[in-house]
Amino acid sequence: MSINPNNSKSSNKLENILIIGNGGRENALAWAIQKNELIKKIYLLPGNAGSKKINKSERISIDLSKIKELIKQLNFLDIDLVIIGPETPLAEGLGEVLRNKSFCVFGPGADGAKLESSKSWAKEFMKGANIPTANFWKVKSLEEAKEIIFTSQNPLVVKADGLASGKGVFIPETKEASLNATEAIFQGKFGNAGKIVVLEEKIEGPEVSVFALCDGKKYVLLPTAQDHKRLNENDKGPNTGGMGAYSPTPLLTKIHLERITKEIIEPTIDELLRKNIDYRGVLYFGLMITKSGPKVIEYNCRFGDPECQTIMPLMDKDFVILLHKCAMGNLIGNEKIKIPKNFSGCVIATSKGYPHDYEKGFPISFGNIDSEDCQIFDSGTSLNSNGEFITNGGRVLSIVCQGEDFDKVFKKAYKNLKEISYEGIYYRKDIGHQVRIKNPNDKN
Ligand code: AMP
Ligand code: GLY
Repeated sequence: MSINPNNSKSSNKLENILIIGNGGRENALAWAIQKNELIKKIYLLPGNAGSKKINKSERISIDLSKIKELIKQLNFLDIDLVIIGPETPLAEGLGEVLRNKSFCVFGPGADGAKLESSKSWAKEFMKGANIPTANFWKVKSLEEAKEIIFTSQNPLVVKADGLASGKGVFIPETKEASLNATEAIFQGKFGNAGKIVVLEEKIEGPEVSVFALCDGKKYVLLPTAQDHKRLNENDKGPNTGGMGAYSPTPLLTKIHLERITKEIIEPTIDELLRKNIDYRGVLYFGLMITKSGPKVIEYNCRFGDPECQTIMPLMDKDFVILLHKCAMGNLIGNEKIKIPKNFSGCVIATSKGYPHDYEKGFPISFGNIDSEDCQIFDSGTSLNSNGEFITNGGRVLSIVCQGEDFDKVFKKAYKNLKEISYEGIYYRKDIGHQVRIKNPNDKN
């Protein structure tokens, strides 16, 4: 979809913001945006209990599938900028629906969101643009998959094509296990998301997250980050949405970043343009730094969670201006992001049982929290009838701190975590192990 620039509200007014989503990512975005004095009101649709702590904010409730009602409300609220947080409404085309109704939207249309919503499409996109990624095969039947799995040298990674809440990727140890995972996907484990399966060569190396704010043609890079996907310490246990992160990551040297820009970021933006996709939003590159150089593991069409919570405190008050420029299609492309503090880290506190089944509804108590250069963003929380915070999700809280080195950052984060309690609280004790020298529990 190409966008008529006259179709979006072209005024520079930036007073009323709408953020769609209910996680820690949206809570952190709202927190970063409220710092700008231009902003009068931030509407959170639907937000979570943490919204209460955001200045100038108000939670609203509208069914996103009732487009007419949504548009009526957004006109009534005089919304100047809509930010769509999660992938599902983006993949369903909410970005273009609102843009076609003259709203200024940060978030790609369904065409751009396909980079995340169809892994096979994204792989073909990369192949077409010669962007480094693992070799792959797109398969539509078990028979087809069997042939490829058993003639390949090593067990292949198996992925459901569509959105599967981060659960659709299997890294089997044996060829039989690859076949079993493929069979489970074709048998409907992920519904329509599993009509197509992508088989991939397994690649190795540290993983990093790179975010480019795009206005359709130009882009600005945010500080890099490293997520911790596994549930348990030493990167063991099942994959999760993310158990913690730190930013920026020293794993990415200037030389790496130059190479990533030249081989991955710019070819991606050029290929989007070549396909007539006007991508206004954040392009999230999930990368693996392999022995032969950086390769794309996945694209996402939204901010990472918990990378977003980690990076937002590094942004100054003009961050929202950048988002607005992207949505309006008028980035200059050489905007410098001012970073007031050097390092940021985030530890996620989860409910017992996550990423599998878990109970919710437990009261959360916040003890003596050190708030200097520390934020507690709410991921899965709600308020009970007495107005008390209770757990309401698998990932409950994001504990984020900044400082002049990562030892100080994580020392503060873990100190704050000791002040927080609810039944079944769980968190990894080794977030940031890649960049810490001292154990944060050491006395000195
Ligand atoms: P994705 O949802 O595609 O990011 O995959 C989830 C996780 O699976 C990634 O963060 C990687 O740790 C791992 N993964 C995905 N694809 C591959 C691959 N081709 N080789 C090795 N690990 C992979
Ligand atoms: N932190 C990984 C993700 O947001 O997909």
